[in-house]
Amino acid sequence: MDIQLRPIAPDEFEAFARADSAAFGHHVTAEELERYRRTFEFDRSIAAFDGAELVGATGALTMQLSTPGGDLPTAGVTAVGVMPTHRRRGILTTMMRQQLHDVRDHGEPLAALWASEGSIYGRFGYGLSTLHGRVDADRDRAVFVNQDDDHGRVRLAEKDELLRVAPEIYERQRSVRAGMPAWSQGLWENEFADPESERGGASALFFVIHETAGSPDGYATYRTRSDWSEGIASGTVNVGALMAENADAYRALWRFVFGIDLIKRVESWGRPADEPLLHMVTEPRRLRFRLSDALYVRILDVPAALEGRRYRSAGSVVLDVRDPFLAWAEGRFRLEGGPDGATCRPTTEEPDLRLSINDLAVAYLGQTGFAALAAAGRVIEDTPNALEVAGRMFATKQAPWCPMLF
Ligand SMILES: CC(C)(COP(=O)(O)OP(=O)(O)OC[C@H]1O[C@@H](n2cnc3c(N)ncnc32)[C@H](O)[C@@H]1OP(=O)(O)O)[C@@H](O)C(=O)NCCC(=O)NCCS
Repeated sequence: MDIQLRPIAPDEFEAFARADSAAFGHHVTAEELERYRRTFEFDRSIAAFDGAELVGATGALTMQLSTPGGDLPTAGVTAVGVMPTHRRRGILTTMMRQQLHDVRDHGEPLAALWASEGSIYGRFGYGLSTLHGRVDADRDRAVFVNQDDDHGRVRLAEKDELLRVAPEIYERQRSVRAGMPAWSQGLWENEFADPESERGGASALFFVIHETAGSPDGYATYRTRSDWSEGIASGTVNVGALMAENADAYRALWRFVFGIDLIKRVESWGRPADEPLLHMVTEPRRLRFRLSDALYVRILDVPAALEGRRYRSAGSVVLDVRDPFLAWAEGRFRLEGGPDGATCRPTTEEPDLRLSINDLAVAYLGQTGFAALAAAGRVIEDTPNALEVAGRMFATKQAPWCPMLF
């Protein structure tokens, strides 16, 4: 089978989107086509052709990802699919190799993606960089520990207002939390587009703003699904976004959501791994908070990635990084870093820690420590105390969090 890879032209967009949707077992709607096209980067698309037939797809968004201490140019890998007729013949592998070379040529030290299945991307050097949690709570058993009055106010808003307010709050949060991609206005519009096809029988989105002294400092979105079985109100509220700039606003938004009438359950997907809600209620177990894998990151340029972030405490460590998929990315590097900056240079010194490029991505944003990776048999400590030194360097104040799906 002779497969050719190339970017698509604008008039091939529909075939591209149809093939990609077919890979996911979905028929793309006209509305989705239009919305998807608005933020599509044609020059970063890769389509696989079997003769004239488009059988595989991937694309990338040019983005900035917050790391502990600064933004780094990152390829936001998206729309990965191979037609059901052409699976397990190496088409994905060929596209991934091409894409990672293109990302390097763009000068981006990182690529990041959401995986439909955790088993797919490890072979291409991606590591699990952020976790996230799901809430599935009994609303009538949720008692908030701190019942202090909120000094601000919560109000419902129109979508247009949220489109002005949310990006500013989100952007300020990006400067204090790793794992958050910068989000363009077009992506925000898609975020709140709220087509009927994505509601799953629930209501249209409600938009919520929290403000203190007249200034917005938090926002949320939610849908409701009513249930009147046996005449008893047993609805569900599903929280989409919920973000705030201070603890009062954050708590007020959660309390508002849990206070909505005619509701039995409160659900939310994609909460940060260190979700404060767990510590706001008297019965955390009843939130049924479950962690799972979220953003996968691929480091393409170890020195640029490691010099691009800051470190919690000053230290120095030699890392021996193996990369079976991209030989040019691997090597041995001395990292010297602290709160004010870092250098990372190739070295021939003996290593302190040995690990794969995947493992480096797992530790990179601060979600998972080197000691945990060593306990899992993934990182080898050659120098006593190196796990401790590296652990203290890479630690972050807050868990990284990627609230945006792409
Ligand atoms: C996932 C998908 C893109 C793989 O495409 P593909 O062309 O069949 O992949 P390849 O033939 O290049 O497979 C490469 C390797 O990955 C493995 N692999 C591929 N998909 C896998 C999956 N879903 N689960 C586990 N392993 C998988 C293959 O077995 C193969 O392993 P090997 O190298 O040991 O033989 C394709 O199955 C698909 O479109 N799935 C549905 C949509 C989807 O999930 N897309 C990913 C979105 S993030």
